[in-house]
Amino acid sequence: MAANGKVKVGIIGSRFEADIHAAAFQIMPEEAEVVAVASPTAGHPEALAEKYGIPRVFHDYREMLKEPDIEMVTITAPNRLHARMTVDIAKAGKHVVCEKPLCMTLEEADEMIDVCRRQGVLLMYAEELFFTPKYVKAKQMADEGAFGKLYLVKQCEKHFGPHSPWFWDVRQSGGGALMDLGCHGIAFCWWFLGRPKIQSVLCHMGTYVHNDNTQGEDDSICILEFEGNATGVVENSWARRGGMEDRIEVYGEGGVTYADLHMGNALPTYSEYGFGYAVEKAPTTKGWTWPVYEELWNYGFPQEMHHFARCVRGKEEPIVTGEDGRVVQEVLYAAYESARRGAKVQLPFRPEGVKRPIDLWKTELDG
Ligand SMILES: NC(=O)c1ccc[n+]([C@@H]2O[C@H](COP(=O)([O-])OP(=O)(O)OC[C@H]3O[C@@H](n4cnc5c(N)ncnc54)[C@H](O)[C@@H]3O)[C@@H](O)[C@H]2O)c1
Repeated sequence: MAANGKVKVGIIGSRFEADIHAAAFQIMPEEAEVVAVASPTAGHPEALAEKYGIPRVFHDYREMLKEPDIEMVTITAPNRLHARMTVDIAKAGKHVVCEKPLCMTLEEADEMIDVCRRQGVLLMYAEELFFTPKYVKAKQMADEGAFGKLYLVKQCEKHFGPHSPWFWDVRQSGGGALMDLGCHGIAFCWWFLGRPKIQSVLCHMGTYVHNDNTQGEDDSICILEFEGNATGVVENSWARRGGMEDRIEVYGEGGVTYADLHMGNALPTYSEYGFGYAVEKAPTTKGWTWPVYEELWNYGFPQEMHHFARCVRGKEEPIVTGEDGRVVQEVLYAAYESARRGAKVQLPFRPEGVKRPIDLWKTELDG
């Protein structure tokens, strides 16, 4: 493998998040180039390859892993496949970028971390909130002491539900809105506060709007207690109308800051006739809308992939790894358990043999 030049990247998956990865590498092309894409549905990887000028297409990712020049592989496949794919990539001697949530179970998380360590490859966890420019600015201010001692950090991500059927099938996704979106907020609060020990998790969830479509929760509220007397609040929804919402609030004894990723970075717009695209998951472009600009940049995806490529070249140390994903995984377990018990769950919480986090809430899935 090359020790210099652009990092050669293969993408597994060819739909929603794969498109974001391909675009992100194109927006910041200095460090890496996508040379291959692999996904099973005929026509799909071809379409992504055509759109982004990716030279090689595979329908079995294991074939792509045989390509000697590929150094880093990004996983944008459904959650249940993340662990298996990570192990295969690591065993092929390539660095791994794994989308969120890291995996389905704590055992899988341990295996992923362990295999990558043994193979001497990086396991980079694709939590883009660590790169979101507005949120990075909030953290810089907090780290400079702008708000004094922090006591409360909140993150919320809400929309009306995912685009692909597998998300709604909790056997494939592992859980509903909390698993899908709460993994961002849990990671965010933990990172923002400087990765203190997480003491307890209290979570309430329910299925309010999408009962016909899923056994997963479509709304959840999760409270994390951190060592050092600070709280994190993570709110998530697949039931919220009106497109994406992604916000943070940071409170310290000396100050406060708020950031709204969508409304705050948008052009308040009224259109009688509609137009091409406003923002991710927006249901319409007619009437009042909040179209964003530089959407991927505002989320932090290009900066994230740029950083990961630099890590492969040894120019930077990964700021978000499999270990972060494992911490999130344990909190997800505790949150589902808390929702079932109706009580706070103390950490560490590492029950063995759990198949999917949601099983701790719904002990028996229908059907
Ligand atoms: N960071 C974020 O904000 C963010 C946003 C969306 C999705 N994601 C994550 O990315 C992952 C993919 O989500 P998505 O929205 O792109 O889903 P999607 O349904 O749009 O795409 C899934 C892709 O995986 C491919 N796939 C399925 N089985 C495969 C296999 N055996 N081998 C190779 N490819 C296979 C499918 O063909 C498809 O191309 C999920 O884990 C999701 O949580 C992250």
